[in-house]
Amino acid sequence: MYEEDQEGVITFLRPPLQKVPTTTMEVFYNPKSELNRDMTVVALQVFISHYKKTKVRVCTPLAGTGVRPIRIAKEVSGISKIIAGDANPLAVQLMERNRNLNDANDLIEVFHKEANQLLGTFTSIQERFDVIDIDPFGSPREFFDASIRALRPPALLCLTATDMPVLVGIRRRTCIKRYAAVPLKTEYAHELAVRILLGCTVREAAAHNIGLFPVLSFSVNHYVRLYCVAKEGDTNTWKSVSQLGFITQCNDCGQRIISKGLIPESTSCNQCKSEKTQQVGPLWIGKLGDKKFIEKMCQILDTFALGKKRRVISLLNTIQMEVDGPPTYYDLHQLADKLNIPVPPFRKVIEKLSSMGEFCVRTHFSNHAIRTSASEQKLRQILFALITEE
Ligand SMILES: C[S@@+](CC[C@H](N)C(=O)[O-])C[C@H]1O[C@@H](n2cnc3c(N)ncnc32)[C@H](O)[C@@H]1O
Ligand SMILES: [Zn+2]
Repeated sequence: MYEEDQEGVITFLRPPLQKVPTTTMEVFYNPKSELNRDMTVVALQVFISHYKKTKVRVCTPLAGTGVRPIRIAKEVSGISKIIAGDANPLAVQLMERNRNLNDANDLIEVFHKEANQLLGTFTSIQERFDVIDIDPFGSPREFFDASIRALRPPALLCLTATDMPVLVGIRRRTCIKRYAAVPLKTEYAHELAVRILLGCTVREAAAHNIGLFPVLSFSVNHYVRLYCVAKEGDTNTWKSVSQLGFITQCNDCGQRIISKGLIPESTSCNQCKSEKTQQVGPLWIGKLGDKKFIEKMCQILDTFALGKKRRVISLLNTIQMEVDGPPTYYDLHQLADKLNIPVPPFRKVIEKLSSMGEFCVRTHFSNHAIRTSASEQKLRQILFALITEE
């Protein structure tokens, strides 16, 4: 028995809610992903306006109940066709019911097909997509190739990954196999997860002479989400590939060394010269988003009926502040623990470092962390100084 629910401007049917949604549900629906869908409608609208796109073709090949494509059809303007699919026949039936319920038959075509097969059906130039949204169980890796082939640049590629234990380095071997990157279990592992996923997607797109540029990416709840603009040609591809590199973490002094290119630089620490370092990568070392794109999202938020509006605003504001900062962040609770001192107020740490000319803001990746251009050594000194001052 399905139940009626609402998201954005639509009413739809979904299976009864479970405490923890599982892949064994008759048709998968996770209310926690409403934030993901809220972000998506806003991001799509900014992309469409920025590129002055008309007759936009969208593909959501892993659509479940259909809540995502139906919200796109009803909330985003400029869409001419949405191809929605799912491999689960019950999901397809429910998606068709939900599409009819929302009077979206003219815009949405529903397919009972495996996602790669569905994407593979639309590779002729006229039929390719301006937007593809990959929202799978676990990893989106198996859909990279078919998605990239079905894009019509400039296009928007949206990806969700919920294989967090793999991306944050708990399942290291799987990360190496799946993403061809060495992960690292560390205080900033959630940012590394985004960078590893991005790096792998960029390498896949580059093989098709397409450059990918993240306009927004984040890690919240149980997943990583990427929004990348795909641009064609040698120059764009090279520009994108040039943002690949490695991060070397010093185990002795905490220094993080960023190196560009697909050959990691020296394995010794450039600060304390220690050889006790760990390397992560290859991964994306460029910016994780585009400040102007995010600003535009903030400007048009009020034109949408978003259920998670307050969370969307707070997330976008934090990301906007940190997006031009350096890679990686510091967990102040962990650092204070190591130093055996209490954690000083974040506001004071941020004020102090900013007054010293360092970049220093909060990060959406963790409530316990700050993103700063200061070294760990400098941060230790500041923490000590602030505690003694009190
Ligand atoms: C995480 S759910 C999608 C949720 C949906 N996008 C939303 O926002 O509510 C993943 C969906 O992909 C479907 N699926 C899994 N593997 C698939 C495949 N290889 N091809 C097509 N559909 C697949 C599942 O049946 C499920 O409905
Ligand atoms: Zn060092």
